Amino acid sequence: MMIVTSSTLLILSLSCYISTTTAFVPHHIAPKWGKVNLYESPPKSPGVLEETNFDDVNLARVLGLQRVKKMLRKYKRQRNASETTSLPPPVVAVAAIPATPETIATVATTATTTKSPPLKMIISGAPASGKGTQCEIIKENFNVVHLSTGDMLRAAVAAQTDVGKLAKEYMDSGKLVPDDVIIGVVKDRLAMSDCTQNGWLLDGFPRTPAQAEALAASGISPDCFLFLNVPDSILVERVVGRRTDPVTGKIYHMTFSPPDDEEILGRLEQRSDDTEEKVKVRLEQFYANVDAVKGSYKDIAVDINGADKPDVVAGKVKEAIELSLAAAV
Ligand code: AP5
Repeated sequence: MMIVTSSTLLILSLSCYISTTTAFVPHHIAPKWGKVNLYESPPKSPGVLEETNFDDVNLARVLGLQRVKKMLRKYKRQRNASETTSLPPPVVAVAAIPATPETIATVATTATTTKSPPLKMIISGAPASGKGTQCEIIKENFNVVHLSTGDMLRAAVAAQTDVGKLAKEYMDSGKLVPDDVIIGVVKDRLAMSDCTQNGWLLDGFPRTPAQAEALAASGISPDCFLFLNVPDSILVERVVGRRTDPVTGKIYHMTFSPPDDEEILGRLEQRSDDTEEKVKVRLEQFYANVDAVKGSYKDIAVDINGADKPDVVAGKVKEAIELSLAAAV
């Protein structure tokens, strides 16, 4: 015969309350605490109250649902705290995060709130693959110094400096300017304080294995190598339709992105090497070197489909840079 004590009565009354409350908790979400089931009732022999076997004790019955929930929350807090303290350093965690828009946003926020070193990037791709167009956007987003070797050489040609005089003949024919002419110019520019303080974005350099080797030999290593992939048929169309505003330097295309303003339209200029005939030579030069140059940066290279619309390309470029930035923290 069972002896009815005051605690037994309490447990019996709690059991009536909790069995109605927990009846709605689905089995698959009922949490377990070791072998102790928090919500489910253990199998019972009719008329027998099993108080001594703690492995099968229904804690919710004994302690009350609210108290069990409170204990569970405390347990979860403690477990999370111990997991957090045993996490590897952030750089390892970041490397393992899959590149979804959400993780990128989180990673980018973390990366920008911690003081990160100046970003060093290279953007590469065939003639008219969209390097200059993307650089305008990257510059806005990341506040780095944009260094286009094509623009630097065109400025030197216009100013008729020694470098300009030498480069003109090569550029007009679509050929690459000799390595020793351009390497020194780029190295000097990268050493200037705006680049060392704000970071840099090299556009169109290195373009040969010798140029990549010269950078490495000077201890200059980028965080990120972006490569824009665009089929040749699209490149030719982009080259012949490209126009530049000499006042702002902004790049337009007569079919894809003409200016709205009549005044700007009237002053647009076409580059002397932007003809169908010269782009063939430029493409030959590009294909002769691209594998070797890309090979120098295979660990940090990111291929991006540059045939998409400019804003779509820009989104992918931004994602790639943010991941590199986070990995570099
Ligand atoms: P450079 O000026 O660097 O020429 P490039 O590499 O041939 O590249 P481009 O400037 O033609 O094209 P881009 O990729 O910037 O495309 P853009 O955004 O303008 O070099 C010129 C010359 O200088 C070389 O030939 C060489 O002689 C010399 N040189 C330079 N660097 C050198 C180096 N390191 N070593 C030796 N010699 C060197 O876009 C093109 C057009 O497409 C635009 O009209 C644009 O509006 C449009 N467009 C862009 N993106 C899209 C898009 N997603 N969809 C539709 N249209 C688009």
